Amino acid sequence: MQLTISKIKDGTVIDHINSGMALMVLRILGISSGTKEPVSMAMNVPSKKMGKKDIVKVEGKFINEDELNRIALIAPGATINLIENYEIRKKFRVVLPGFVEGIIKCPNSNCISNAEREPIRSKFHVSKEGEAIVARCHYCGRKLRSVEDFIA
Ligand code: CTP
Ligand code: ZN
Repeated sequence: MQLTISKIKDGTVIDHINSGMALMVLRILGISSGTKEPVSMAMNVPSKKMGKKDIVKVEGKFINEDELNRIALIAPGATINLIENYEIRKKFRVVLPGFVEGIIKCPNSNCISNAEREPIRSKFHVSKEGEAIVARCHYCGRKLRSVEDFIA
C-alpha cells in the first residue's frame, strides 16, 4: 500500500476505520488541542477492502478495553495495530461487544439511568440488524441506531 502518513515508533495505529469516523475515534481516545504526543490521521483514503477508509495513528498511546469497545461501536471493521520500536507487536480486529456499561448515555430523560437523585450506570444491549448496529437500553428499552448517539 502507498504510505499516506508516516510510520510511528511506539503506539497505536487504528486502521480500516469506516470512512468519516476518524474524528469520533480521536474523541474516544481523548485527543484534543492539549495532546502533546504526535497524532496523525487520514480520512477517505482508498482501501482495497473498504473502498475508502480512515486511519488514526497515536504515538505513545496504548489503547484500553473501554476505548476498544467504544471504537467497535462506531467502526466495527477497525484493525488495531500495537507498535513497538517500529514493529507491529500485535494486530487484531475490534470485536462488537454484546453489552456495554457506562458508555452510551440513554437519550430518554425519564430513564432510570438518568435519574437526578440516584442515577445508575447505563447498560445497553448491542446487536446487528443487517449492517446496522443497534443499541437497546437495558432499563427503558429505548433503541439507538445512529452512531452519533453511541458516544455522548
Ligand atoms: N504502521 C505504522 N507504523 C509502524 C508500522 C505500521 O504506522 N511502525 C501502520 C501502517 O502504515 C498500516 C498499519 O500500521 O497503516 C498496519 O501495518 P501493516 O500490517 O504493515 O499494513 P497492512 O498489511 O496494509 O495491514 P492490514 O493487513 O491490516 O491491512
Ligand atoms: Zn434508557
